Amino acid sequence: MAILEAQSLTKRFGPVQAVDGVSLTVGQGEITGLLGPNGAGKSTTLHMLLGLVTPDSGGVTMFGLDLQKHRTEVLSRVNFSASYLGLPGVLHVREVLNSFARLYGLRDPRARVAEVAELLEIGPLLKRRTSDLSSGQHTRVQLGKALLNDPELLILDEPTAALDPDAGERIRNLLVSVARETGTALLITSHNMREVERMCDTIHFLAAGRIVASGSAAELAAHFGVVDLEEVFLKVAREGVPA
Ligand SMILES: Nc1ncnc2c1ncn2[C@@H]1O[C@H](COP(=O)(O)OP(=O)(O)O)[C@@H](O)[C@H]1O
Ligand SMILES: [Mg+2]
Repeated sequence: MAILEAQSLTKRFGPVQAVDGVSLTVGQGEITGLLGPNGAGKSTTLHMLLGLVTPDSGGVTMFGLDLQKHRTEVLSRVNFSASYLGLPGVLHVREVLNSFARLYGLRDPRARVAEVAELLEIGPLLKRRTSDLSSGQHTRVQLGKALLNDPELLILDEPTAALDPDAGERIRNLLVSVARETGTALLITSHNMREVERMCDTIHFLAAGRIVASGSAAELAAHFGVVDLEEVFLKVAREGVPA
């Protein structure tokens, strides 16, 4: 069952056509990747799905509801994390997570913060100021925040961008197990091709605001006549899409 359907989304910033007719669906529990060179329109697409950027045209349906008409209900079932999001540095991690838990209207905010802290192994960080966290710790806290409301769809913009290989691997495993165990669908962007290959059921390749190819990593490689996603990326980014 599709929990997200984006239809012909477009967005222009002045002279730049950032997104140019993107349609995609995400099924329940599915892990979907958005790939593409810098400036391809990945973040803008995600921001439209989150109602942070208003599309010039096109629409978004989530859980069978129109995002614009049912914004509050829809967004209460979604969450978002990105490498570029900040945390209020003067607050302690526990205060940040408690605040979000209350903001989300959770029935037992403290219990949920404790659960998420255990899941992400951030218990020892709860009394630290967010400004004192390393980037790996920061990412885990951001993901903890994003899991608080037990989202049915988790949208992640380059979640492992700031992480060393070991921390990245742990976050990937955690995300995959969350998706598999709770049925949470993931929509992620990444420039780590191995990560996308290993995590994603379906990949959409974006170039200049358009989806130029979709499929599993193996399907994309076969389609472009190359051995892996890294080569698909290089081929599309350098040569454009073959007619
Ligand atoms: N708020 C904005 N104002 C002006 N231009 C923007 C804005 N957001 C994105 N863009 C432009 O839109 C294009 C797509 O950007 P983005 O969606 O961030 O790409 P990606 O995430 O794939 O790197 C880029 O050319 C970028 O400079
Ligand atoms: Mg981006």
